[in-house]
Order: sequence, then C-alpha cells, then structure tokens
Amino acid sequence: MTYIQRCIACRAEFDLEARLYVCSRCGGLLDIDRREEIAGAFSLRELWRERKSSLDARDRSGVWRFRELLPFADDIDIVSLAEGNTPLYDAPRSADYCRLPQLKLKHQGCNPTGSFKDTGMTVAVTQARQLGARFVACASTGNTAASLAAYAARADLPCAIIVPGGQVSHAKLAQALDYGAKVLEIEGNFDVCMNVIRELSEDGSVYLVNSINPFRIEGQKTVAFELAEQLEWRVPDHLVLPGGNLGNSSAFGKGFRELLQSGLIDRMPRITVVQAVGAAPFARFAAGDEHNAFVNEEHPKTLASAIKIGAPVSWPKAWRAVSETGGSVITVTEQEIADAKAVIGRDGIGCEPASATTVAGIRKLVSDGVIKENESVVAVLTGHLLKDTDYVMKYHSDTLVAPDGARITGTFGNTPIKVAASRDAIKKLLTTDDTE
Ligand code: F0G
Repeated sequence: MTYIQRCIACRAEFDLEARLYVCSRCGGLLDIDRREEIAGAFSLRELWRERKSSLDARDRSGVWRFRELLPFADDIDIVSLAEGNTPLYDAPRSADYCRLPQLKLKHQGCNPTGSFKDTGMTVAVTQARQLGARFVACASTGNTAASLAAYAARADLPCAIIVPGGQVSHAKLAQALDYGAKVLEIEGNFDVCMNVIRELSEDGSVYLVNSINPFRIEGQKTVAFELAEQLEWRVPDHLVLPGGNLGNSSAFGKGFRELLQSGLIDRMPRITVVQAVGAAPFARFAAGDEHNAFVNEEHPKTLASAIKIGAPVSWPKAWRAVSETGGSVITVTEQEIADAKAVIGRDGIGCEPASATTVAGIRKLVSDGVIKENESVVAVLTGHLLKDTDYVMKYHSDTLVAPDGARITGTFGNTPIKVAASRDAIKKLLTTDDTE
C-alpha cells in the first residue's frame, strides 16, 4: 500500500483500513502519509489542468481532480457534489481597507453547501463507504453539519449531527434538516458536543467525520493545490485563515508541504491563523514560550458562531503548519470582525462572520508591519454570506451586540429605506447625496 496512517507524536503506523481517529498507542493525531515520492510531479500540472474540461465526475470535482495525491485507488466510487474549483477573487476595497495595493480572497463559501467543509466531506464520506460504515456523525457549529448531511444523503447513509442547542445559525440548521440528517441539539457548547461524539465513535456506533478524522484533512488539503494552480504555482507570501477547531489550518499546511516535497512549488506561504478574541486558546498558546502548555478556553465567546470553540482538537497539526512556515496566530475583536465583513461585502463578495476574521487580521498585520506593502496575500473565506443573515441585518441596523454586552457600531451600515410608492419620491431619494 502506498499510503499509511501515521501518528504525528509517536510515529506508529496503521493501515488505511484501521478505523481510527487518533493513535491507538498514544492518543496522538494521525496523518495520512505517502510511503514513496511521487514520480514525475511536473507532468501532473498539465494533467490536472486538462481535467478541467473533462466531463468525468472525478474531474468535475476540484478535490478528486488531484487524485494522484489522495489515498485511494484511481477507480474509487466517489461521493461527490462537484465540490471545490472555487474562485480566487481580487478584492480592491478590502485591499484598500487593509492598506495594501492588492489582496486576493479564496472563496471557499462557493462550495455546494456554502462552506469549505465540502472539500473534506467528499473524501471522508467516500472513506466511510469504503469501510462499510453504517452510520456517519459529527459534532458541529453548523457548517460541518450541513456538509455531512448533504454528503450522507448522496451516499444514502444514515447520519446524525450533534450541535450546541440555540447556538447555530438557522441557515445551517435548515440545510441539515432539509438534507435529512438526524439533528440532535444538546445543552452545552461545541466542545461538549465534540466530547460526546468522540465517546460514541469509540465503540464503533458511528463513523466520525469531524476534522480529527485524517481523511477530512486529505480532502481539505487539495485547496492548497487548487490555490497554487490559480496562482500559476507561485505561492503567496502570506496565507491567512480563520481558526476554530484548527482542521483547516492543518490541511493547508499539509497541502503546501506536499507540493513543496514533490517540487511543484519552491517555498511555503507564511500561514497565519486568526481567532476571535473571546475564543482564542490557540493564539494564547502561540504567544507563550516553548514550554507553554496548551490550555483550553472553557467559555469561548464570539458572535462568529462557526469558530466559537475553546478546545480545538487539531491544534498540534495547526501549530506545525504555523511554526514551519514562520507564520503567526493573532486575535481580532468583535467590532473588527463585523467591519471587515461589511467591507468584504462591498467588494461584491461577502462571507460569514468567521471568515471576516481574515481581513480584520490582515489589516492588523499590515499596521503592525508584519505584512509589507509589496508582499502578496491571500485570505481564505470559509463560509458564504447567506450562512448567517441575522448577523448581517443586525449590523446594518446598528443592533448587533457583542457577547460582553458592548454594542457593535455599524460603521459601514446600510439600512433599508421606507419610501412612498411614487416616482417623484424615489427620484428624490436617488438624487440626494447622502454625503451632504
Ligand atoms: N470558518 C467557518 C465558516 C467554519 O464553519 C469553521 C469551522 C471555521 C472557519 C474554522 O475552521 O475548525 O478547521 O479551524 N466550523 C466547524 C463546524 C467547527 O462545525 O462547522 P477549523
């Protein structure tokens, strides 16, 4: 077998068929590793590009298009919704806001269920079917749930999602319900959901597809391949992404590392992870010295509910990505997230609150001199604007309130205007210069 599962701590090796989520010897996280170097890597660039015009379902997927670097046989029966192939946008207003001449936004919210989770879920559910799993499940702040529900429906697999009751946006819940998942709301936050689901998976009752499952990371790593391809294999100086459970940061690290090892790129971007200030255990860890222990945040708080996480399971892998690339981990405030989100909207792009931590973070990094004006920067938008419209409406009507009770100012607010159904009244409004 070309691929194995390997513990990142004690280096123990396991077959791909071993239904594990962590090392059975020491409890460390698992990587999926290739035993041999990839031969003729340069010819892959051409092959991957050619596949974009193919009608084969595997080629239509922005994940399976890169299957030479995935741990499956070539003729695998995939569970896919044509995920990936997401746009890389120029964002001039966001760039201006960050005081940069240029900024690119990789919009993972343009996936089939509206978040980056789909790129991992297609692989994890394909593996679930390979293993003959009879029940798939996850804990979620909403997006993983929506994604799993969709892919489980495609695979005709029963599925359960465990979510923190009353803390998930309606849009995400609506998706999971419509796709037919069993939606279980529990009292407690995401970290409590995660503990329960891990217990359930230990006795084999369910196949767990949270990002602790290394097959999820295999799918998500392909976004690094896609991004490198979109940039004609010149990696940016900085890649900035939000951090919650820290699977995505781990996946970007792995993706770029594999490209570097196979000679397809000549360096890795500096990977910076941005957390909301009230849910920032990783940032606190990163700010400590080398003897610092990782301390969970018991009561994480942020309106960016997707990343309201205090005990991120993948932090050792994410730390590897940040430290090996010379990146950093920073925090941004609720006000900074909200304003950055509105600016991304003004670029005609939009995203959900968690994703906007990136632009808020970049603004800070530029002002602190960590990002220089002549450097290239890509921010990863992880979820779609319509994932949390409640937040958007409140921001624009100046009624958004942070978890600590502080009112968030709608700096870039834009409220609906009530007007009479008359041509003259509307014309008057349209010609009024509101800067006067
Ligand atoms: N952005 C969005 C929109 C998310 O939904 C998440 C995570 C993240 C960022 C953070 O990514 O966990 O890989 O560091 N959402 C998970 C969920 C936890 O259940 O949907 P991460």
